Amino acid sequence: MERTRVAIVGGGPAGYVAARRLAQLGVEVVLVEKRHLGGTCLNEGCIPTKALYAATSPLGHRETFARMGISLSPAVDAARLRTWLSEVVGAVRGGVEKLLAQSGVEVVSGEATLVGPGRLRVRTPAGEEGISADAVVLATGSTPIELPGLPFDGERVWSSTDALLLPRIPDRLVVIGGGVIGLELGTVYRRLGSAVVVVELLDRLLPGVGVSRRGEAVLRRALAAQGIELRLGARAEGLTADGVKIRTTNGTEELPADAVLVAVGRRPNVDGLGLEAAGARVERGVVVTDDGFAATPGLYAIGDVRGGWMLAHKASHEGLLVAERIAAPTAPPPGGAAPVIPQAIFTQPEVALVGTPIDEAAGGLRVGRFPLAALGRAWAQGETEGLFQIVADENGRLVGAEIVGPHASDLIAEAALAVSARLTAEDLARAVHAHPTFPEGLWEAALALLGRPLHRG
Ligand code: NAI
Repeated sequence: MERTRVAIVGGGPAGYVAARRLAQLGVEVVLVEKRHLGGTCLNEGCIPTKALYAATSPLGHRETFARMGISLSPAVDAARLRTWLSEVVGAVRGGVEKLLAQSGVEVVSGEATLVGPGRLRVRTPAGEEGISADAVVLATGSTPIELPGLPFDGERVWSSTDALLLPRIPDRLVVIGGGVIGLELGTVYRRLGSAVVVVELLDRLLPGVGVSRRGEAVLRRALAAQGIELRLGARAEGLTADGVKIRTTNGTEELPADAVLVAVGRRPNVDGLGLEAAGARVERGVVVTDDGFAATPGLYAIGDVRGGWMLAHKASHEGLLVAERIAAPTAPPPGGAAPVIPQAIFTQPEVALVGTPIDEAAGGLRVGRFPLAALGRAWAQGETEGLFQIVADENGRLVGAEIVGPHASDLIAEAALAVSARLTAEDLARAVHAHPTFPEGLWEAALALLGRPLHRG
């Protein structure tokens, strides 16, 4: 049996970040990963999605360019695109492997199960081995949820993992779930040429994200303009010979489909971990932990398996914190103010938000808005659909922001820093922003919030 100070199960953004930080802090660490380092995010999530997003983006701007007098007649080479995706994933994964090796993290390929407190059994290609550790960190991530009646088969019914392999470009794609994954991949396939219908149970898009009604309306209009059909308030019930059966208040209906992407959420990977053997509890599908990520003394859980936002950067943040806690066990657990976690959704236009949702701004909270249509840079780029919104508390401190428009995923960083550093709308208004740039939108929203709007009435 191998002995180590810390054993980490799962090499995604939670686990590998914890491993590297522990190694930097001089703590001996073994990382067990059953598939590839980088986890879902790097191999079949964030990175390949963004590669597809980038590759297909120009296709979504053909009409804008035509208005400018530039005509683009793209041809999609799906085989080359597939190769490019795997090159991107390979390069980023190679970087992570190198970083871990440089830091002295021992990586074991295999599937780990807890067999008791501080004890793991690992099934490797060469057989079984045991690891005992003073501390075990579970960072096993999550898996796409299947719908009864629509089991994943990789052929007609795709999970997000299948869709990212770009098995083919279906003539008709039905996307079940108008959440983050459904809309990111739905817009990609639309740009590649599929006719796309999005079926969403609730009466709005991105219901779990906290996007405002105004922001959602901008997105909805943009998706409709791209030719994406939205079926809100509709439940997918199962496959038919030619597509999918959905139920709405008007009864059932069949939507023809050559492929169906089911993106109705992800479930934390808690099964088969041997949690009972280690005395950990699972409630509502997640490992129960304290503020310092401990499930039991010496057993920690971070990332998706612990619940909360299923976001890579939230997982990595927890990886850093748990490493510091394990390395300095006598220090008080992190606790304190909740971290400020931005969200970025790569639709066209992008949607990004942080902090207090705009529509929850009640009481003494004030909202400042600035439409993209009033921004010179947006006109120069031919993309004027979008909105900047910020919210400040009664003392003027920024507590939230939402941006819908080009580069929102990057622009939200300034707002996240402002919220995190407890800056005021006045601070933002007094910071000089380069002209003509998109960040001016946040600055203008701050001016609007303070009652002295500049480029709007
Ligand atoms: P989601 O929770 O964002 O959306 C799932 C949607 O499916 C919901 O809107 C729900 O109402 C709908 N739905 C459920 N059952 C349905 C049915 N039978 N028929 C029709 N609609 C139904 O989950 P998603 O998109 O699968 O993403 C999973 C997780 O991954 C989320 O927590 C998301 O935040 C995270 N993620 C974040 C990304 C980002 O921030 N850019 C990218 C990808 C994933």
